[in-house]
Amino acid sequence: MIGMHQTDHWDVLFRGIDAKEFYDRPLGPELDLVIGLLPEGASVLDLGCGMGRAAIALAEKGYGITAVDSSRVAIERLRAESGRRGLQMDIRMGDVRELELSEGYDLIIAHGILQFLPRSAWERLLLNVQEHTLIGGMDLVAVFTDKVPLPADTALLVGDVFREGELLELYEGWDIIRNESYVKEEVSPSGSVNRYPMDRLIAKRGCTYQTGEK
Ligand SMILES: C[S@@+](CC[C@H](N)C(=O)[O-])C[C@H]1O[C@@H](n2cnc3c(N)ncnc32)[C@H](O)[C@@H]1O
Repeated sequence: MIGMHQTDHWDVLFRGIDAKEFYDRPLGPELDLVIGLLPEGASVLDLGCGMGRAAIALAEKGYGITAVDSSRVAIERLRAESGRRGLQMDIRMGDVRELELSEGYDLIIAHGILQFLPRSAWERLLLNVQEHTLIGGMDLVAVFTDKVPLPADTALLVGDVFREGELLELYEGWDIIRNESYVKEEVSPSGSVNRYPMDRLIAKRGCTYQTGEK
């Protein structure tokens, strides 16, 4: 189970978002890059999908989407938007740590979620993700790192951040399509600058990578 303060936080955040503005916003360059590499009709798993801007955009391109999030509000809003657009998607409310993966995917996205779990949980989940990425398939993963301290309110929600560069190490043996380490800066309503240290990568599973007991 995830702590109540976590789910409350996300529910409140997602309730306050304007759907039209949210779903109309362009995808980031990393998703555009991944989309350009996906085969037609690819299967995609989005872990911690939030309100699902990526999931909606990918479903509109004809990919088979499974989207998972523990926030009831995010899932309700994603279901409403996919219904409004007449999209078929597998949308699941639940904790990603309890997810039983039984099939492989062409793309697995874990964007901005893993650091909210404790290290033991994200280590296990990431291995599970890698094992369920099809050969030739890709993972798109973004995490908070220890490069600079997180804003205090965000730190309260976090389980364990990654060491800077650790995400890349965990993808040893994969083909790295893109890897970045940066500090995202946002100006808060009070005018102070919040800094979020991020590592983000896109990795492709080649035929030589052995999962699990490397
Ligand atoms: C920073 S948001 C990222 C949303 C989206 N992936 C993006 O990049 O815009 C983190 C998301 O992870 C979800 N989340 C946090 N812990 C989770 C868990 N244990 N299981 C499922 N979802 C979780 C939150 O509800 C939230 O939607």
